[in-house]
Amino acid sequence: MKAKLKFVQTLYYMSKIIVIGSCGQIGTELVLTLRTIYGASNVIAADLKEECPPILNNGPYIKMDILDREAVRSFIMEEKVDEVYLLAALLSATAEKNPDFAWKLNMEGLFTILDLAKEGHLKKVFWPSSIAVFGPTTPADLTPQHTIMEPSTVYGISKQAGERWCEYYFHKFGVDVRSIRYPGLISYKSLPGGGTTDYAVDIFYKAKSQGSFTCFLKEDTALPMMFMDDAIRGTIELMQAPAQKIKIRSAYNLAGSSFTPAELATSIQKYLPDFRISYEPDFRQAIADSWPNSIDDSYAQKDWGWKAEFDTDAMVKIMLDNVNI
Ligand code: NAD
Ligand code: SER
Repeated sequence: MKAKLKFVQTLYYMSKIIVIGSCGQIGTELVLTLRTIYGASNVIAADLKEECPPILNNGPYIKMDILDREAVRSFIMEEKVDEVYLLAALLSATAEKNPDFAWKLNMEGLFTILDLAKEGHLKKVFWPSSIAVFGPTTPADLTPQHTIMEPSTVYGISKQAGERWCEYYFHKFGVDVRSIRYPGLISYKSLPGGGTTDYAVDIFYKAKSQGSFTCFLKEDTALPMMFMDDAIRGTIELMQAPAQKIKIRSAYNLAGSSFTPAELATSIQKYLPDFRISYEPDFRQAIADSWPNSIDDSYAQKDWGWKAEFDTDAMVKIMLDNVNI
């Protein structure tokens, strides 16, 4: 199944865009798609890494540390950038190992970009939130857009605080900032970077290379997940939607499909009948236990027409066909 490309291509003015954190799991695919829409030269990839992955060699790349506030400000102003996609962050599992730095990275970068927009140097900002904003007291099934949010991880606390600040900058200063609470994202073009949902990518590599997989979550741990093509399309549709349609300026719930490790293994066994899974839960089990099982994304559907296209079986087939071992 191929996701439909239905993005708006403005002929008379091409936005100049920078994706900060472009070499990660989302950034790699986001840059590639944005370049097909806005032109390769209009989409600058930026990351802490010395060099970008070869797949991004078709357009500009700059080594940038989002924590170097002055360097980021100068670059964005000198290059007359219109839109920022700010992806640089520590994810849930890595953040638990280094909470002080996770808080610093996840918050300071956001303020640098929100302040540039507040001063009129940017037209639009995308900053991703996460299902990690929810916590153990949140209703776990079909978690609503507006509900109890008491996150118990440093990552979740940083994302919840970020959401509050995005909404504040919108109301106080008119900053056009947009956000999505991504579920766990599943992709084959780039590897995940230290999250609790990473097992749902690794399982495909191990299924193909070894025929078996040891999961760091328990078999019945349901989590909201999404195939990367849906996430990239949703992100760009949100950013291209008319401002008046974006009623939520904290972050939108978005749902793909939800499954447990056991259910994912069963789906893989439809294509690889000899595949076997075993379970050795570690510290990430507590993180997963604090997150929802599934998400209600009706606000995104109603406000800007969001609809997921890939269910679990479709995603599994694409992953097995495409992961390179
Ligand atoms: P990732 O870890 O794969 O990529 C992050 C990138 O940021 C890396 O390439 C890294 O080198 C770069 N980076 C780190 N520190 C930097 C710095 N100081 N300056 C510039 N770049 C820096 O992460 P991802 O999965 O692509 O996630 C991107 C964003 O989406 C994050 O904010 C994450 O919280 C959010 N998110 C991701 C998922 C998911 O499942 N992947 C789910 C929910 C939310
Ligand atoms: N996939 C992310 C993580 O596990 C959710 O934000 O950290």
